[in-house]
Amino acid sequence: TFVVTENCIKCKYTDCVDVCPVDCFHEGPNFLVIDPDECIDCTLCEPECPAEAIFSEDDLPDEQMEFLQINAELSQAWPVLSEKKDPLEDAEEWDGKPNKTPLLER
Ligand code: SF4
Ligand code: F3S
Repeated sequence: TFVVTENCIKCKYTDCVDVCPVDCFHEGPNFLVIDPDECIDCTLCEPECPAEAIFSEDDLPDEQMEFLQINAELSQAWPVLSEKKDPLEDAEEWDGKPNKTPLLER
C-alpha cells in the first residue's frame, strides 16, 4: 500500500486524489490519508504530491512508520475525497516544516 506522511499536514495540496483510480483518499481537516484496504499500488499518486508526502509502504522512512497506523485508522473515520480542491491557506509556508505531526487535526 501507499502511505500519506507528515509533510501533507497543513498543506493538503490534493493533487494526489485526481490520479487515484480507486478513490481511496480520505479527507480530514488538515491532512489526507490512504485506505490501505483499497489502494491497488498503482504508484500514480506518489509523483503528483508537491510536498513529496506519499511513500510506498516499502520505502517508508523509519521516522514516518507511525503513519501506517494513522492512515489505516483515519481512513475508516474520514470521508472520501475524489476531486482536487484548493490547498490549505499557507500551504507553501508549511511545506517542509519539521515536526508537524502534533498539528494533525482528527
Ligand atoms: Fe490510489 Fe494508486 Fe496512490 Fe494507491 S498508489 S493511493 S491506488 S493512486
Ligand atoms: Fe497531501 Fe500531497 Fe495529497 S500534500 S493532499 S498527499 S498531494
